[in-house]
Amino acid sequence: MNYALPQPAFYIFKCQQSAPPGMPKPSCVSQNNPESQQLFMHLAQSLMQKGIISTVQPIQTGCMNRCQQGPVMLVEPGHTMYVGLTKEKIDRIIEEHIIGGKVVEEYVISPEMWGEPIEPKTLVQP
Ligand code: FES
Repeated sequence: MNYALPQPAFYIFKCQQSAPPGMPKPSCVSQNNPESQQLFMHLAQSLMQKGIISTVQPIQTGCMNRCQQGPVMLVEPGHTMYVGLTKEKIDRIIEEHIIGGKVVEEYVISPEMWGEPIEPKTLVQP
């Protein structure tokens, strides 16, 4: 028998950056926004409750340079950046995108803030 441990179908990178108190720059996890501190746990628990945590891997990550739009999370594959997250939005993203296969366009970052990627090979110095 040929057995291979399956890859996750999705990785969800949730920005967990928290700016120190008094820092003027916004951050995805904030003392001023108690819900922002609970979003990663909510994401992980929702995936567990749906029984899909084995194929959807939630990952805590640092700043992804879209702090003004926070709280944010990136869904891979697809480079889909979701912004302005709340628990309700995460629930809908799990239902419609992760399970249903359809990106929740109204929560996706604006194209002006999420241009096409730059290929590293074009930046390499000869
Ligand atoms: S703090 Fe989350 S993107 Fe910068």
